[in-house]
Formats: sequence, C-alpha cells, structure tokens
Amino acid sequence: MSKLGLQASLGKRILLGAIVALVLLIVGFLFATQGGWNHFLRSEPPLDRGEQNAQNASQERQSFSNDMASWRTDPGKPPMGVPVDRDGYFQPSLDREIPDGEFGEAVRRGREIFTNTGTNAADFVGNDLACTNCHLDAGRRPNAAPMWAAAVKYPAYRSKNEMINTMEDRVHGCFTYSMNAQDSPSGGPPPRGSQIYKDLESYFFWLAQGAPIDTHLPGAGYPELEKTELGTDKERGEAVFAANCAACHGDEGQGTKDLNGRTIFPPLWGERSFNWGAGMHRTSTAAGFIKANMPLGKPYSLTDQEAWDVAAYITSKDRPIDPRDVDKSQ
Ligand code: HEC
Ligand code: HEC
Repeated sequence: MSKLGLQASLGKRILLGAIVALVLLIVGFLFATQGGWNHFLRSEPPLDRGEQNAQNASQERQSFSNDMASWRTDPGKPPMGVPVDRDGYFQPSLDREIPDGEFGEAVRRGREIFTNTGTNAADFVGNDLACTNCHLDAGRRPNAAPMWAAAVKYPAYRSKNEMINTMEDRVHGCFTYSMNAQDSPSGGPPPRGSQIYKDLESYFFWLAQGAPIDTHLPGAGYPELEKTELGTDKERGEAVFAANCAACHGDEGQGTKDLNGRTIFPPLWGERSFNWGAGMHRTSTAAGFIKANMPLGKPYSLTDQEAWDVAAYITSKDRPIDPRDVDKSQ
C-alpha cells in the first residue's frame, strides 16, 4: 500500500470512530432523559422537577424539625442557618439594624413602650412596673420570657382562658394583671386595636427576624424548677429575701425610686406591684424566674430550694386583687 493509501484509511477510521461515539452519546442521552433502565424495567415513572422539589422539601422540613427538637434539649446544637448567640440561643436583631421608615419607627416606639411603660403607655399602667422588669434586657434575655420567642409562638391555645390567644390577647393580659391596669388613669388595658399593641408587636416581630416560626425556641418563657423534697416554706423564704434581695427591693419589697420618681428597683409586692392574676403570682413561675434571673447579675446562684422558698414568701404578701374577682363581686 502506498503511503497515501495508508493515510486515507486512517482518516476513514477516525471518522468512523467519531460517528460511533456520537451515536452512542445520542443514544445514551435519550436513554437517560427518557427514564433509563426504568423504561425497560417498567417501574415508577420518573418524578418531574416540581414533584422532586416537593419531596426534597418535605425531607428537609423533617430534618429541620429534628434539629429543632435536639436544639431545645441542647442549646449548643442550633439548626443550620438560624442566627445564635454565644450560648447557642437565638440571637435577636440588634438595635443598629432597626430599618429606616415607618416600620422602623413602629419598632422604636414599641421598644420605648416596653422599657418605659409607665411613661409611654401611661394611661394603662396602674403600678410602678415596666414590661422589661420581668422580660429582661428589653425582652431579649433567654429564660426571662423573651419577646423573640413569644413572637413565633402566637396565636396559641392557652388553658388560662381556654381559647386560641393572639399576641394582642397576650399583651392585653400582661397589662391587665402584671401592669395592674385596673388602677391606671383609664381604668383598664389599652382598648382592642390600639396603636400600643401594634407598636409592641412590631418590636417583637422585628426582634424575631430569622427565627423559625410556630415553635418553642430554647430559652422561651421561664425555666421550670422541679419540686423539692422539702416543699416550700415562706419563713425560710423570708431569710433568703433578707440576705439576697432586700438590698435592692427594700425590706418591705417596696422597691426603690430615684429623685425623679422613676423606678430603679421594682416593687415585689404591695399596692404598686403586679396583681393576684399575674403569672408572676404563681409560686412556680416566680421560682423559675428568680432562679434564672435574680439576684440581678447573679443568675443561677440560689439553690432550687432557696428559689422556691423566696418565691413562696413573695407570693404570700399583699398586692392588688385580681380584677376578675372584682368583676365577679359586681
Ligand atoms: C410582673 C412581671 C411581668 C410584667 C411587668 C410583664 N410581664 Fe409579660 N409575662 C410575665 C409572666 C410571668 C409571663 C408568663 C411566662 C410563662 O408562663 O412562661 C409573661 C408572658 C408574657 C408574654 C408571652 C410570653 C411567652 O413566651 O408566651 C408576652 C408577649 C408578654 N408577657 C408581654 C408583656 C408586655 C408587653 C408587658 C408590658 C406591657 C409585660 N409582659 C409585663 C410577667 C410579666
Ligand atoms: C442588685 C439588685 C437586685 C437584687 C439583689 C435583686 N433584684 Fe430582683 N430585680 C432587680 C431589678 C433591677 C429588676 C428589674 C430588672 C430590669 O428591669 O432589668 C428586678 C426584678 C425582679 C422581679 C420582677 C419584677 C417585680 O417587681 O416583681 C422579681 C420577682 C425579683 N426581682 C425578685 C428578686 C428576688 C427574689 C431577689 C433575691 C433572691 C432579687 N430580686 C434580688 C434588682 C435586684
């Protein structure tokens, strides 16, 4: 064979090889896009893209809710993508992140009502307390019933009044009992639909940005203390109070004011404190709050027994009556 003939047959072979490869590629492509082996095996038709996405979403939702469950028992294990603080609790929005514009204005007003309730919602406050006295750090502190955790819980069913409660219902309740609205200038909590609720809710909603909704976040509410063997005793509680609390809250639990009449340390009982209907008047709730938050600056320093006893002491003291009892007697 001449040199030329050799080259020609090599050229043909390469061309043939290329054609075969192309055909295989096309067949392979058709095979893959038309369902591959499934086509031959006559099994399930392939999922289209929408169905596939829906199936993935449902798996992701399931794994997120598993992550949520383990986060609740171990704050060190937050689910991916949720902003958390150094202890693993949800990290609420920072003040410098308040947006400009009307929403930002509402958030600021809400925060001011929350921290200076007696000034900014004066008509509806019948004692010397502010929301932030029980929901510490302007509603940010975990285990002090933080507002970012509340924001994602409502609407919710409550056994206190046996129905679904909205956030407005809940805040209406805190004005009625914790802020003792019956002794306020208006004689009651802000009327339904009041701007006060809207501003507070804007603040809470903003704090919670980035939190998963409709869930019980770690650090929500106050911790529940297990009952102790000794039970509760207000006499023992009186001694705990004198040693750990009276310096700030006063010997008579009356609290302390500055020269301008502003509350520095809030009253724990008496005419200017929360009334009998308030959550803090339940010994178990007060004990959990105290254990995790008091004495101020020394959380978790009391034993469970001391927290129970001092809570029993505080709740045994006189305070404004429950407005529902007034209603009943009328
Ligand atoms: C004397 C203490 C006290 C004051 C003052 C107070 N609260 Fe509360 N608040 C509580 C207690 C106790 C609970 C119940 C927490 C629980 O059961 O876990 C609660 C619960 C709440 C909840 C629901 C929290 C949740 O996680 O479900 C909201 C919202 C709330 N308060 C808002 C307010 C607002 C707004 C104000 C001021 C107008 C206020 N609170 C004033 C003690 C107080
Ligand atoms: C160093 C001062 C200080 C000490 C000590 C202290 N508290 Fe407080 N307490 C405060 C302050 C301040 C607040 C309000 C928190 C806020 O607004 O950030 C408060 C809030 C409270 C509240 C909720 C508001 C209210 O008026 O009911 C209770 C209940 C309470 N303290 C109980 C106690 C008990 C019980 C002790 C002792 C074990 C104690 N505190 C020790 C400063 C103190």
